Amino acid sequence: MELKNKKLSIEAFLAEREQILQAWPTGSDSGLDLATAIEYLKQVPESKNFALKLIKAKQTRVTMIQPRAGVPVLDEHIKLLQYLEKCGADFLPSTVDSYTRQNRYLEAEKGIKESELLGRALLNGFPVVNHGVPGCKKVLESVNVPLQARHGTPDARLLSEIIHASGWTSNEGGGISYNIPYAKSVPLEISIRHWQYCDRLVGYYEEHGISINREPFGPLTGTLVPPSLCITVAIIEALLAAEQGVKNITVGYGMGGNIIQDVASVQSLQTLTELYLHKYGYNEVFVSTVFHQWMGGFPEDESKAMGLIAMSATVAALSKATKMITKTSHESIGIPTMEANGSGIKASKYIVTMLKDQELVESSKLNEERIQIEKEVNSLMHSVFEAGKGDLAQGAVKAFEQGLLDIPFAPSKYNLGKVLPARDNEGNIRILEFGNLGFSDEIKEYHRKKIAERAAFEGRPISFQLTVDDVYSVSMGQLIGRPNQK
Ligand code: 5AD
Repeated sequence: MELKNKKLSIEAFLAEREQILQAWPTGSDSGLDLATAIEYLKQVPESKNFALKLIKAKQTRVTMIQPRAGVPVLDEHIKLLQYLEKCGADFLPSTVDSYTRQNRYLEAEKGIKESELLGRALLNGFPVVNHGVPGCKKVLESVNVPLQARHGTPDARLLSEIIHASGWTSNEGGGISYNIPYAKSVPLEISIRHWQYCDRLVGYYEEHGISINREPFGPLTGTLVPPSLCITVAIIEALLAAEQGVKNITVGYGMGGNIIQDVASVQSLQTLTELYLHKYGYNEVFVSTVFHQWMGGFPEDESKAMGLIAMSATVAALSKATKMITKTSHESIGIPTMEANGSGIKASKYIVTMLKDQELVESSKLNEERIQIEKEVNSLMHSVFEAGKGDLAQGAVKAFEQGLLDIPFAPSKYNLGKVLPARDNEGNIRILEFGNLGFSDEIKEYHRKKIAERAAFEGRPISFQLTVDDVYSVSMGQLIGRPNQK
């Protein structure tokens, strides 16, 4: 059947559901019966409902804090989350391991057993499918704040069934954002279709009076992604989700490094997502934003890493993002210890609390940046709809095929990979090589001019070397990869 941006019929959804649940023994859990799941979700207290807590949080304009965290053994995972809650996490995650992300549940099972035996984590996250509904319910019942699955799964249908039936009221991901940056050879039409199912499941729960939040993964590859590309993908995924009946969406953005560009991006992410939702008739969707602390390479030195975390938190607070995902001073090493994770939360929370009554003041530069982002997003969205002859799902597939949308540094072979970013002379992320991006000549001219200013300042030619230097610069202590700087 051809992929279309059209709400799955209840019959098609339920037929697909039956197939999915047969694929794994936990599928026969009585907890996965939809009536049982609805009953369970209805008794989850409001304070543990992700969607409702976000609505309240947005009203207060205080940026909420959420870490990443996940270990394979159930009791250890619960201890970890309880500790992070004590450190001040407003929302809790369960970061899912890489085997589960690739639907390799037998290997995940082995990882759990070996981790139990050796007394240390041999998987890089919490394998939700293997723990099934009973395990996931136990996690929810052991904490006092809302829970979300954070992963990177192109086919998250079974995972989504399990977490929602367990009372987890948010799911991160999307057909583009959990494919292009995460997988090498999953066709985009397949991952988009699978995420339509995940969204339809949320739509089903919404039809039964249960609010569930969905969060497209904003930062994509996390490395020098020009804001308009992130925002366009977020808008596409928000529209696809809304069509399936999702009513509460958090769109995300990863810190770039220039404060004005970052604040303009978060503001535009909020307003443009709402604008496009209204334009296509989705008038009952609540939109919030999430700011990701620096997603690129981190300094090895833990004090410097904490400095970068503090800077990220400052920008998030000034942008008034609804929520922020924290990093830790162990970022350059690997999965953080519980204590390091807690420190990231405490430092970040301290900063957003200090800055709760302040925001970045309006300026002509902030306005210029917002206008530029809007022009670029409109140009990209136009090209996507055109490529799909009016259908957004088709448009997304075709746009990536043709390079009209093209994410820098992505591993997927379904991404053209011709775009090269570089910073301008003030550290804003601009575009050096456009490949076939759906941009007008006027937009391209703006980027060329900005990068030329930097190259002239540094007295060197405009080349790929700018990109290379910028990829490494932050971990080495500079925002802009200037030559001859230590
Ligand atoms: N626990 C904590 N953080 C994790 N990350 C990935 N898996 C885990 C986990 N199990 C973090 C990485 C990186 C980000 C993408 O996710 O450290 O910061």
